Amino acid sequence: MEKQKYYITTAIAYTSGKPHIGNTYEVVLADAIARYKRLEGYDVFFQTGTDEHGQKIELKAEEAGVTPKEFVDNVAGEIKRIWDLMNTSYDKFIRTTDPDHEKQVQKIFKKLYDQGDIYKGYYEGMYCTPCESFFTESQLVDGKCPDCGREVQPAREEAYFFKMSKYADRLIEHINTHPEFIQPESRKNEMISFIKQGLQDLCVSRTSFTWGIPVDFDPKHVVYVWVDALTNYITAMGYGSDDDSDYKKYWPADVHFVGKEIVRFHTIIWPAMLMALDLPLPKQVYGHGWLLFGDGTKMSKSKGNVVDPNILCERYGVDAIRYFLLREFPFGSDGLFSNESLITRINADLANDLGNLVSRSVAMAEKYFGDALPAERKSEPIDDEIISIAKSLKETYDRHMESYAFQNALIDIFKLISRTNKYIDETAPWVLAKDEANRPRLATVIYNLLECVRICAILLTPFMPATSPKIFAQIGAPAAVTAYESAGTWGLLPADVHVHKGEGLFPRIDVAKELAALEQT
Ligand code: MSP
Repeated sequence: MEKQKYYITTAIAYTSGKPHIGNTYEVVLADAIARYKRLEGYDVFFQTGTDEHGQKIELKAEEAGVTPKEFVDNVAGEIKRIWDLMNTSYDKFIRTTDPDHEKQVQKIFKKLYDQGDIYKGYYEGMYCTPCESFFTESQLVDGKCPDCGREVQPAREEAYFFKMSKYADRLIEHINTHPEFIQPESRKNEMISFIKQGLQDLCVSRTSFTWGIPVDFDPKHVVYVWVDALTNYITAMGYGSDDDSDYKKYWPADVHFVGKEIVRFHTIIWPAMLMALDLPLPKQVYGHGWLLFGDGTKMSKSKGNVVDPNILCERYGVDAIRYFLLREFPFGSDGLFSNESLITRINADLANDLGNLVSRSVAMAEKYFGDALPAERKSEPIDDEIISIAKSLKETYDRHMESYAFQNALIDIFKLISRTNKYIDETAPWVLAKDEANRPRLATVIYNLLECVRICAILLTPFMPATSPKIFAQIGAPAAVTAYESAGTWGLLPADVHVHKGEGLFPRIDVAKELAALEQT
C-alpha cells in the first residue's frame, strides 16, 4: 500500500543574525513530529529554511562591510549548521535567495497582478526600520514601534497592494468550518476577531531598498517580505516549475509550525494568497509559544539577548538539549528559559532517572548472568504493575503525540522509568543474587527491567534520536524488536538476551560549577 504523505514545515528564519535557542526550539519541535510520523509509517516531507531579503538585512550587511548576499550566505550557513547540529531531519532547506524560488515568486506576483488581485497605490504610515514594518498611528505604543519599542519615522512610498479585503468572508468561513485549521484553539479566536475588525489590503512591494526579489515588470520595486517568504512552502516543492511532482504529491501542507506572533500571517495573508492563486489551503497552522528569559523578555535577534545553542550542545550534548526543549515547556504556551532549569532537568530526568535505569539494568544483567539470561523464569505479582504500565504506554503516548503534547508524552515515559527504578529497589536483585535457588526469579526481574528500557527507548526516538540506538545496543535489542510498532507489545526481547555495557549516557552535572561557567560565556 502506498504510504500516506505528511508535509510539515517550520517558519523560515530571518538571516539577520545568528540563530538562538528560541529559533532552535521551533525546528526541534517540528523535527520531533517529523520523526514520529516517519516511525508511524508516513511518507514525511519536512521543510525548513531561511528568509533572506529585506531592508534590515541590507543594513546589517552594510554595517558588516559585506554585500547582502555575502551576509546571508554566512548567516544561512550558520543556521543550517545549527539545524544539523541539533540533528534535525529536514528533507529540504530552502533559502529565499535560491534562484528557483526567486523565479517562481516573480511569476506568482505577475499572475496576481494580471488577474487584478495586486494593484499599484501608495503606502503611508509610520515606519520602523529594524522591524521593516509600517504602523498606523493607533498601533504605536507611546509613539514608538509596538514590536521593538524603537523610534519610527513617517514614510510614504509607491507600492503594490494585494487585495486581502476581498478574501475576508471566505477566510472566516474557512476558519469556522475547519476547526483544526488554527491551533491551539485560543489563537483561532484572536484571528477571527482580527479579520472582523476589517482587513486592509496588504502592501506587497517596496521601493525604499533593493535587497529583494525585483518585480520583473516594474523593477524599481522589490517584492515585500511576506509574499516572498510565505510562498517558500510551495516554491520549494517545485510549484510552477517544470518539475512540480513534489508539489503535487505533498501540497497542501499538513501543518505549518510557527511562532505565535506570525500565526496571523499564516492564517490570513497566506490563505488569502492561496485563494487568489486557486490553490488548496494548508490543513493546519500551529502557533507555538515563545521561549522567554527569566525576566519575561523574548529572546530575539533584534534585541541581541540570545542563548547560543552551540555552547549548550557542546557542554551537555545535543540530545540533552533536545530533551529539555521538548520536555520543559508546555507546547503552545510560553516558557521561561534558564540555565538552572536546563541543568536541573538534565540531572533529574536524564542522569538520575533514565541514565541510572539503563546503567543499573545492564550492569546487573552482566554481573549476574554474564553472557546471556537463562531460560528458566519465575514471575511474581509485584511484576504486574510495571508490565501493565509498559504495555499501555504506547497508546497514551500516541494520543499525546497526535496533538503535539510532547511534554505529556515524555511525562508518561518518565513515569514508567521512575516506576521501574523503584521496582529495582522493591525486588532487590542484589539480595536475590545471593542464593543460587533464586536464579529464575532474578532472571525475570532483569528481563523485566530490560523490556521496560526497550519500550521507553523506542518511544524516546523522536526526542533523542542519537540516544535510543545507544540504549538498544546496551540492552542487546536486535533491530526487529526496536521497530516502532513493537513498543506496543511486551516480551519481545529474546529470552536469552545478551547485554553490552557501554558508557554512561548522561553524566551528572555539577550545578554550581556549570552555572558559574555559563555565566562567563
Ligand atoms: N522570517 C519570519 C518567518 C517567515 S515564515 C514564512 C520570521 N523569522 S524569525 O527568525 O524571526 O523567526 C523564525 C521562527 O522562530 C518564528 O516562527 C518565530 O516565532 C520563532 N522564534 C523566534 N524567537 C523565538 C523564541 N524566543 N521562542 C520561540 N520561538 C521563537 O519570523
